[in-house]
Amino acid sequence: MYLGVDYYPDYWPEQLMDEDLDGIVGLGANIVRIGEFAWHRMEPREGQYDFSFFDRVLEKVKSRGLKVMFGVPTATFPAWLAAKHPSILSRDETGAVRAFGGRRQYCYNSPEYREYALRLTRRLVEHYRDEPAIVAWQVDNEFGHEGSDMCWCPNCHAAFQRFLEEKYGSIDRLNETYGTIFWGQTYNDFSEIPMPLPTITTHNPSLRLDWARFRSRSLNGFAEALVRTVRECKGDHQSVTTNLAGGFFHKWFDHAEHARLYDFISYDHYPVWGGLREPLSPGELGMNLDFVRGLTGKPFWIAEQLIGAQGHDLIGYLPRPNQARMWSFQAFARGCSNMLYFVWRAMDRGAEQFCTGIVDQDNARGRKYEEVRSVFRDIAPHAELVESDIEAETAVLYDHDNIWSWRFQPQSEAFDFTREMLRLYDPFHRLNCLTDVIPADRDFARYKVLLVPVMQIMERTLADRIRAFAEAGGTVVFSFRTGIKDKANNLHFGMPQPGHVADLCGIRIRAYEALPKGERVRLAAAPDAGGEDLPREAHAEVWRDLIEPVSAETLYRYDDPFFPHAAVTRRRLEGGGTVYYVGCGLDDRAMRAIARIIVRERKICYIDSDPGVEVVERRVRGRRYRFVMNHNGREASFQGRRLNPYDSFIVPVDEA
Ligand code: GAL
Repeated sequence: MYLGVDYYPDYWPEQLMDEDLDGIVGLGANIVRIGEFAWHRMEPREGQYDFSFFDRVLEKVKSRGLKVMFGVPTATFPAWLAAKHPSILSRDETGAVRAFGGRRQYCYNSPEYREYALRLTRRLVEHYRDEPAIVAWQVDNEFGHEGSDMCWCPNCHAAFQRFLEEKYGSIDRLNETYGTIFWGQTYNDFSEIPMPLPTITTHNPSLRLDWARFRSRSLNGFAEALVRTVRECKGDHQSVTTNLAGGFFHKWFDHAEHARLYDFISYDHYPVWGGLREPLSPGELGMNLDFVRGLTGKPFWIAEQLIGAQGHDLIGYLPRPNQARMWSFQAFARGCSNMLYFVWRAMDRGAEQFCTGIVDQDNARGRKYEEVRSVFRDIAPHAELVESDIEAETAVLYDHDNIWSWRFQPQSEAFDFTREMLRLYDPFHRLNCLTDVIPADRDFARYKVLLVPVMQIMERTLADRIRAFAEAGGTVVFSFRTGIKDKANNLHFGMPQPGHVADLCGIRIRAYEALPKGERVRLAAAPDAGGEDLPREAHAEVWRDLIEPVSAETLYRYDDPFFPHAAVTRRRLEGGGTVYYVGCGLDDRAMRAIARIIVRERKICYIDSDPGVEVVERRVRGRRYRFVMNHNGREASFQGRRLNPYDSFIVPVDEA
């Protein structure tokens, strides 16, 4: 198991290196991650490659028996390159060129950038191909993060038009698919097609979805070229990875497609960042980790695990003593198998002088140093356990086209995609059921329960697979707006809602209403839905579908004199399958009651625990272990055992 730190010897006087590396070894670390922003250090002038600094770093690192994850530093490029080829700089949606000075402000479609980046990659990786200490290459850094997945430059415009021409073949086909007859937008030629830049009102929904797909292809195409180059040059003992940033549902690239490029995937785990008042909820943190694991279905690395407060110009929440340790244990519980902390020492200069580390600018080893040491000490004996399979019985499905279509058209001012994922995921997390978060095109036949949040784009193929799952006895939970659109981002014509799954759900949606922020409507449990621990009253936010049950029973209806329609329904299938349709932003209490009904009915493993106490059960060599995490800033208990604030530990089940 690799445990270590992100280390930037290039930022500090060389005389500090021995002391630093001794301190890193003192943590119990066996790996450092270096180099990912050091292009200028390696090529200070065009074509003058110089790796001598890192040769010296490697000598010192190796003399202490440490291994290395080496960053291919294409996320920040040297100033001379931007000065020579300004066209490598990406543009924002006002057309303004992003200035040299931040990071990742290059255009994925710039031929010049690609040429220089690949040339450097080749030289660097070839230089170290026989270096036994380098066990992994990290390509770039946090692809697509901080808005770097979007660019509106002339290179991108031309490449977008080529992308459309390849996809549609003829302009007539594009016109027909998009419905450009509307507002007289018919194109005579692909060269007339705009990027969806700011305009009056809004762009064509099909055009916008194609633009999103094009963004994804641009990023993944660039990453693929880098990875291919690394693979051509690297030693056989070296793997290839990249570090994914969080905020997956706010990015313009298909993460699952991206993940396929690598030997393993790494994640940068920041439960709190910048000006955030408080960390993400335990459920959201859990869902993010499950999402990362779901990209490959294998254990993943954390390349950057937060230890102290972070921020660029705004700083927020200071993690409480042992809270960062507890987040680390949560990550190990949910699929992380190797971990590096960000950062060995906080910088005194540069844009990240407020990103604190294991050691701060006072260069003293204190509480955070001891906290990281305690994690390494306590997790190291569990290398096999953290590599063990995670056997989830529940899966959440997502699809990037669907996510992007919501981003363009949120429909309700109160809509937030992550919130809608969590609305279905969180009740199962609260019951400590393991859940996979996976792309909808994966095989999901082995699960007992499928959660399908706001899947408004749904083609017949996906609907048929879900039907087969339910007919084989599975339980499905859909939420509002399911199945209304096709892959072109157009509404289905001549089909009742919810589209291809209307009959499977046994319902028809007669009308719908978006509920603006702060608006809630009342729901009443149907009288015959009693006896199942459903709260008698509930409420809905964000959205309401007005449902007419056909072969489904009503669980909740709107308490509304004009629209007393069903709000939540359930259809029992003859083969034992069950299909829920939650036609509104149902409140958490009612969602939790539904989750409890499902886990009991389907005999899914669940563990009752106090709110904020997370328990994950894993198995290795026939033994069961529990990871216990107290997310609360106060004492709690689990099965009679007292938990300190932010406690985290692993315990064999017989002792639990
Ligand atoms: C990550 C990034 C690091 C550093 C860190 C600060 O997003 O990969 O380079 O910026 O955040 O918290």
